[in-house]
Amino acid sequence: MSDAEGTQEMAGFGQFSIDQETAANPQQFYPMMREMGILPMEDMTIITRHEDVMWALRHPEVFSSNMDAIDIGNVRPLIPLQIDPPDHVKFRRLLDPLFAPREIEKLEGAVRALVTELIDTFIDQGTCEFNSAVAIPLPCTVFLRLMGLPLEDLDLFLRFKDGIIRPPAADLAEGRALARATGQEIYAYFEQVISERRERPQDDLITGFIGAEIDGERLTTEDILDISYLFLLAGLDTVTASLGCAVAYLAAHPDRQAALRSDPSLIPAAVEELLRWETPVPGILRVATEAVELAGATIPAGRSVTCLLASANTDGAEFADPETVDFERSGNRHLAFGAGVHRCLGSHLARVEMRVALEELHRRVPQYEVQPGETPIFTAGIRGVEYLPLVWETA
Ligand code: HEM
Repeated sequence: MSDAEGTQEMAGFGQFSIDQETAANPQQFYPMMREMGILPMEDMTIITRHEDVMWALRHPEVFSSNMDAIDIGNVRPLIPLQIDPPDHVKFRRLLDPLFAPREIEKLEGAVRALVTELIDTFIDQGTCEFNSAVAIPLPCTVFLRLMGLPLEDLDLFLRFKDGIIRPPAADLAEGRALARATGQEIYAYFEQVISERRERPQDDLITGFIGAEIDGERLTTEDILDISYLFLLAGLDTVTASLGCAVAYLAAHPDRQAALRSDPSLIPAAVEELLRWETPVPGILRVATEAVELAGATIPAGRSVTCLLASANTDGAEFADPETVDFERSGNRHLAFGAGVHRCLGSHLARVEMRVALEELHRRVPQYEVQPGETPIFTAGIRGVEYLPLVWETA
């Protein structure tokens, strides 16, 4: 459920209930949270400092991301997120080359053509709702193409991901039930696609998975389902949210926007800095496999833990002048893509989508701002901007 003045709740990636002011400006709370170090909440512990978050993410034997850590409507561990080492590395060895920079670079032309097409639809109107005009269709279309799926399924995919990440439910129990039902639909959808590709191979990722081997053994249909399910959840909402947050920031900061327009070579660094500052995936979940001491506190075995990437990303112990958004920041070791063995598989793809979108937007659209009288609506959980009405002057 979501409304501008009230609260937002979501099941799946975690349960949240926060107001719009907090959702729009979460950064203001992190210094106080880091001061406390470890926050023992009722049903989970939050780790807030950069050093401690890094430690937790680099010790998956102590902080596991298995199915006890996160429930997103799935019935088997998602691959590779919910697989702990040592098995995890086998899957990453298979998947990493597919998302390596040299593979992703090949997509840049198609991504640029798509962004151009999207901007063409609204540029002359002097206004757009950025979320529905660019931030949603861009990553969804790229994803469907990579997986070799029909573009007509875009709405279905949006319903799938929203049914898990932000189920339209009255309470958490209903939300969980809806996520589970949506999960079943996702399995059924991909099962059908996998069986079609076994009959008629194509040039796409799913066909690639069917032919792939790990230690001389083919992936099973279940393995391919567990990878595809995760891709759907990991690759769509995150880019939508990151683009929305970045453009909302730029709309509110005309000087930063002008800097990108006059010197587009700043854009790659701006993408990193906006990912650091906004951290659209604010927290990632783990479960303690044993009792562990961290930042002077004991975290008991079996405890759920949130590694608060957003807070780590504004920790002055790691980042000089952390509250300043600096497109020329050097050595920006932000954690927006996580860290350790589960660091984001799709980071290069996400970066290309964000860079190209910001390049084309600032090359073609003049100074833009949020439509006067309107307020962007931020979402909880994965931090996106579900309503971002922009205006600019037309010639
Ligand atoms: C700006 C956009 C993105 C952000 C901010 C982001 C963020 C993250 C984060 C924080 C993690 C770590 C999760 C954890 O350790 O619990 C992660 C993992 C992952 N991401 Fe992304 N992601 C983005 C885009 C993508 C895209 C486009 C894909 C495409 C498939 C993708 C696929 C994955 C996968 C498969 C994992 C799990 C890796 C593993 O467990 O080894 N992500 N992402």
